[in-house]
Amino acid sequence: MKRVLLAVLPVVMFAAGAEAELVGAPIPIGVGVAQTSNVALFGQEQIIGAKIAEKYFNKQGVNGTPIKLVTQDTGGDEAGAINAFQNLISKEKVVGIVGPTLSQQAFGADPVANRLKVPVIGPSNTAKGIPQIGEFIGRVSAPVAKVAPYAVKQAMKQNPNIKRVAVLYAQNDAFSSSETVTFQETVKNLKLEMVTLQKFMTTDTDFTTQATAVLGANVDLAIISGLAADGGNLVKQLRQLGYKGIIIGGNGFNTANLFPVCGKNCDGILVAQAYSPEANNPTNKAFVADYRATYKKDPPQFSAQAFTAVQLFVEGLRKVEAATKKKITQLDLSVVRTELNKALREGSYITPLGEIALDKEGEINQKTFYVSEIKMDAGGKVGKFVIVK
Ligand code: ALA
Repeated sequence: MKRVLLAVLPVVMFAAGAEAELVGAPIPIGVGVAQTSNVALFGQEQIIGAKIAEKYFNKQGVNGTPIKLVTQDTGGDEAGAINAFQNLISKEKVVGIVGPTLSQQAFGADPVANRLKVPVIGPSNTAKGIPQIGEFIGRVSAPVAKVAPYAVKQAMKQNPNIKRVAVLYAQNDAFSSSETVTFQETVKNLKLEMVTLQKFMTTDTDFTTQATAVLGANVDLAIISGLAADGGNLVKQLRQLGYKGIIIGGNGFNTANLFPVCGKNCDGILVAQAYSPEANNPTNKAFVADYRATYKKDPPQFSAQAFTAVQLFVEGLRKVEAATKKKITQLDLSVVRTELNKALREGSYITPLGEIALDKEGEINQKTFYVSEIKMDAGGKVGKFVIVK
């Protein structure tokens, strides 16, 4: 069936007056993440991870043919992501896209790629329902339901007397609204009492109302689902008002770019994560060594996931060459995109995230998760994520 399609396709396209469009060399892979706006607090780390992967995998390329990352800034909203995806697909003729940064953006831009039959790997979209957007949509970022509960269990270990809990979330953000559902379910399953539920916006800078409510509710644990800028400011204002209990931050807190926002008040925040720099396999070791050589610290989750997304595309492209017995550059772009999408869902990958696979729907199957505690130095400027579980 595949052979017939390959043989027939150029004729069909010729008949329609178009030329068969072959994939260019080096093979272009799109990276559509946030390089501007507050969302760039995540996007900057993603670009770094993707570039380390480009360098690493180009030692061999796709059986000798190098890849080339084509980056396109999505900004922080849906319109920016849709624009970037359209550019990458139609102008840059990429074989697939790593992106976007936010789930909120994915719900806008992924349907565009899906309609045009271009494979997308979400490097950080953790809301429920991302792979279900369509058959061309997958992700390497484990969903909130799999990751978030670990943070609450860790908080219980640190203080077994926790009873009263405040839950807060950014109501204008798809990921935060999804993650808070998981947190609220976890609180209930652990027989804790959610005594206050507070909402905010990712654009907010003043959290006096929410912080005052948390203080008034006399809780031992506050759980926040938001992005880095709003989340960090909320933590700062909670501590400044005198909140002394444990704070859990969701996946939006999983970046060192949070440290300048809450400074010394970031100290002690618990964050569940899908990555550990200690993961013991050759791919992670190479990734960590390259990152450390440049940045003199351990790589963060957002970089590791972006690396992994590029890795899946490279290994997927190699599988397409093996299956078609042709070089990617001899194949029609639309054929490569379709075959690549199938190849991504076959077999497993040894990545910085450990051994992972994508199921038929494009959902990641990942085995190991961690919890970190943020430790700030006395000056409140330098911080790090210390794995506690
Ligand atoms: N994990 C965050 C999201 O899905 C960045 O939007």
